[in-house]
Order: sequence, then structure tokens, then C-alpha cells
Amino acid sequence: MRVLAGFQPSGKFHLGNYFGSIKPNIDMQEESEESFVMIVDLHALTTVQDPALLSENIWDAAADFLACGLDPTKVVFFQQSGVPQHTELTWILSTLCPTGLLERAVSFKDKVQQGLPSSVGLFTYPILMTADILLYDGEKVPVGKDQVQHLEIARDLALKFNNAYGETFVPPEAVVQEDVAVVPGVDGQKMSKSYDNTIPLFGDEKVIKKAIMSIETDSRDKDDPKDPDTCNVYLIHRLLLSDSEASALADEYRNGLPYGDAKKRLFESYMDYFGAMRQKRESLTDDGVREIVAAGTTKAREIAEAKMEKVRGAVGIR
Ligand code: ADP
Ligand code: TRP
Repeated sequence: MRVLAGFQPSGKFHLGNYFGSIKPNIDMQEESEESFVMIVDLHALTTVQDPALLSENIWDAAADFLACGLDPTKVVFFQQSGVPQHTELTWILSTLCPTGLLERAVSFKDKVQQGLPSSVGLFTYPILMTADILLYDGEKVPVGKDQVQHLEIARDLALKFNNAYGETFVPPEAVVQEDVAVVPGVDGQKMSKSYDNTIPLFGDEKVIKKAIMSIETDSRDKDDPKDPDTCNVYLIHRLLLSDSEASALADEYRNGLPYGDAKKRLFESYMDYFGAMRQKRESLTDDGVREIVAAGTTKAREIAEAKMEKVRGAVGIR
């Protein structure tokens, strides 16, 4: 089974990204025979148009993944823009893609509604994503629910191409992690960089502590019994604990654990859980990260070029 994942370098990773996406992905990569993880910087260009920021985000994302345990000896870990075959295949697929297929894409409409300029790039984003997957014969693609429609477009385009030009691509399948809970942010809404309510994974310890201490709670008095199931501090804390630890902590809430103490305990658990990853993140050098990604990108380019040779032959432009 070939697993493939893509991550947009569009901001600093937070706890929601880790439990909702990075961790399940890394776990799944470990179980697969062959896997690819790419940093989709060309996709990020549809939302990040500050060159210094985009560049910083790309290398931060790469280092974050490595620190979180991605093993570059098992995974082809690469930078999308370093493999020009992605844009070449995007063009060829776009000649087969009915405009209606993209017009129905909910994600495009959502982004425009949120105020992003409606560019052609944002509109054809799903075709580039399709190329990302088809170049490597990605069979399983772990994604959040919001990306399922994009995977349907990718399947559709793979089949359309195969029908028109003969068997060339493997139609991919989305793997949706149903059991991944939505991680709440410090204000209780879904944690998201768009809501400015995140607890970051890496970076200054003081910032993390401040974010944790700012988690909103209800107005129960210090020693009143608390309800763990509706408390954001607990809902975040339990992600860092084993089931038995989480249930013991829930009992303490019911017995009146003051919110201030609960937050301090959460901070300690946070540091226990992410301490080793944070140390690894500190130990990575820019050059080291770039070398790893460059090696992955070279490998990806070879695979992508072999596929493109077939595609060029199939459509008659070789
Ligand atoms: P953000 O909402 O911060 O912009 P993205 O949309 O870039 O995050 O999400 C990247 C990945 O992280 C997606 O797979 C998404 O499902 C996951 N993710 C983001 N926030 C959360 C959250 N609060 N809980 C669970 N998963 C999340
Ligand atoms: N669109 C995906 C997202 O926003 C990112 C992405 C781009 C991707 N190319 C991909 C995901 C290929 C999986 C496979 O999360």
C-alpha cells in the first residue's frame, strides 16, 4: 500500500494540527510499505503571498515534521515546488477537467467567502492536488473531512485520463480518520490559526505557558466541583494522557481541582509529552533540514519524471 500526504506550509503548527493530522499521518506512514510526505508550497501560494513568510514557513514545517518523528529513511519527504512535473501534469489534467467539477468544489467557495481573492490558482487548486497524488501512484491519502471532495476530484480525473489515453494512473482513495477529535482552542472554538486561539507545538516556552494560562473556563469558584467534559483545560489535557491518567484527572476535577492548578498541571504534561520533540527541534540545523528535504526531493523527481514520460507518451507529446 502506498500512502501519500501533503501539508501546506501556511503557518506555525499547533496542537490541533498535531493530534488531528501530523500524528495520525506519522503513525500511518510507519505501517505502510511505501510512503510520501510533501510540503505543498505551491498550494500555499494561493494564501500566503509574503515571500519571506512563505520561505520561513516551508523550512519550519520541514523541521517540525522531522522533530515530530517523521523518518526520512522510510518516507520520501520532499518539497512540491522542487518537482516541476507537478505543474506539468496539472496542465495536462486541466485539459481533461470539466469546469463544472471545480465549480462544485466547496473548499473554493468557502475560501472566497472567507475573503480570499478568487484567483485561477485557488480555483484549479484541486487539479494540482490531483497531480501531487497521481505522479506517485498514491493509493491511500489520509485527509480531514474537508478534503474528501478533493480526493473525489482526483479519482475522477485519474479515471478520465485512463479512459481517454489508456491505463496510466491509480485512482486514489481518501482515508478519513473518523476517530480524530476536534481539538478545542483556548477560547473553546476549534483550534485554528485563523482564530488566533492556538497552543503552538514549538517555539518559546513562555508563549506556550501564556497560551495555556489563557484557556477560557467557566466562573465556578476555586474549590467548586468542575465538569471535566465541558472544560477546555481538561479536553486539551486528556490528549496528553493515557486513559487511566485521564480518568483519574477527571475525578480530581469533580473533586474541585482549581482551574489555576489544572492549567499548571496541563503545562507540565505538555512539556512531558513534547519535551523530547522540542529538544529534537532545537537540535536540527537549517542546513541539516535542507539536506534531508533536498535528498527526498531528488528521489521524488526521479519517480515523477518516470511517470511523466509515460504520460507524455500517452497523450502524444513525447
Ligand atoms: P488551521 O485550522 O490552523 O488553519 P489547517 O486547516 O492548515 O489548520 O489544518 C491542517 C491539518 O490539521 C488538517 O488536516 C486539519 O484537519 C488538522 N487540524 C487543524 N486544526 C485542528 C483541530 N483543532 N483539531 C483537529 N485537527 C485539526
Ligand atoms: N489540500 C490539502 C490541505 O489543504 C493539502 C494537499 C495538497 C494535499 N496536495 C495534497 C493533501 C496531496 C494530500 C495529498 O490540507
